Amino acid sequence: MKVEVDSQRCQGHTLCAMAAPDLFELSEIDGHATAVDGDVPAGLGERAREAARTCPEQAISIS
Ligand code: F3S
Repeated sequence: MKVEVDSQRCQGHTLCAMAAPDLFELSEIDGHATAVDGDVPAGLGERAREAARTCPEQAISIS
């Protein structure tokens, strides 16, 4: 499983990092998220899905 953040869509709502702090890091400059590592570790799949569901901008994609 892979997770990505669309930097064009992200508006810095930070909900992804609250849902899955191990999967996303937030920029100290603008609060925008990036995936720590595109590969989702075993056991964090549901966290990744929850983050994608909670993002108001639908900026997170999972494949
Ligand atoms: Fe950005 Fe959505 Fe997270 S807007 S900071 S990817 S909750």
